Amino acid sequence: MSIKKKLFGTLSDGSEVYSYTLRNRSGMKVKIMSLGGAVMQIKVPDRNGCFADVVGGYDSLDSYVGGDGYQGALIGRFGNRIAGGTFTLDGVKYTLAVNNGKNHLHGGDAGFDSKVWSVAERDSDEPELVLNYVSPDGEEGYPGRLDVTVTYKLSADNALSIIYRAETDKKTIINLTNHSYFNLAGYADGDILDHELYLDADSYLPTDETLIPTGELRSVEGTPFDFREPKKIGRDFYADDPALKCAGGYDHCFNFRGGETDTPVKRAELYDAESGRAMEVFTDQPCVQVYTGNFLNNEKFPFKNGFKQRPQSFVCLETQHMPDSINHENFTDCVLNAGEVYDYTTIYKFSVR
Ligand code: BGC
Repeated sequence: MSIKKKLFGTLSDGSEVYSYTLRNRSGMKVKIMSLGGAVMQIKVPDRNGCFADVVGGYDSLDSYVGGDGYQGALIGRFGNRIAGGTFTLDGVKYTLAVNNGKNHLHGGDAGFDSKVWSVAERDSDEPELVLNYVSPDGEEGYPGRLDVTVTYKLSADNALSIIYRAETDKKTIINLTNHSYFNLAGYADGDILDHELYLDADSYLPTDETLIPTGELRSVEGTPFDFREPKKIGRDFYADDPALKCAGGYDHCFNFRGGETDTPVKRAELYDAESGRAMEVFTDQPCVQVYTGNFLNNEKFPFKNGFKQRPQSFVCLETQHMPDSINHENFTDCVLNAGEVYDYTTIYKFSVR
């Protein structure tokens, strides 16, 4: 058996939350829970074969419920921000929860990260978990009943695939992602400014001070946002750049060269020279939000093993469509029509060098 199911805790409404540990032949382990479909643990070896847990998270269900930061969770219906929490579709104005200053963030007050997903196990040498959540018409203000299935698969080559599929019964908007926080040295090991990052992105989206894109697609050329050759995240982190200063670090959408693809292609790589751990990111999505955990400072909710929250102790690579895309004609298309299938895959593949 390569999937182990365990009761993780019980929510105040009595629903039970289970964790599922997937293991492959080489010993890589991924723990996922039914609350928010969150990735709680990813254990991979370093170049000497020593395993470490390379994602952020909490020890208790209470912390996952009360803490912020969307640790490891599936994000929906719309990952990232929507300006003012409003948009118009076919002449109808929709109003969403405003839960981040004056904007809507990550699906609203009770996004997919806070839902208990139903989970089916597919046990084999390459174990899979199939998660499902049906979001009723009008939930959090969004139109259409949205039926979402997310499959996590752990392959023999140490890759974690996340396959997102959704269908609606009414025209709606959608932008699903996963909010795992990575530190390839191990979750307890300092900051990620020494990690090298490669991004196949030739432009990024500058934002206003509320982190809403201005509408401009700005070339990365000659800016701190150029990761087309791998460089340390910290190299230009403190550069005198208005877009970086405005977000308090990297918290921007990077646009992949040529936009979305039919099948996943390599678009990013994170590398920690000290441990030798590398993580390649393959996706068919058009963009990635790179978030260097600039807001991680909530003292009330320490991370696993009591580690204090600290900014820049992790980096998120959230593959997605452009934030606020419904309010910008020149942005990627986030509309899903009845009868269409939303279908994207992102693969985080671990190795050493
Ligand atoms: C956003 C950050 C936000 C964070 C919340 C990220 O996806 O880009 O701005 O604060 O999520 O955890």
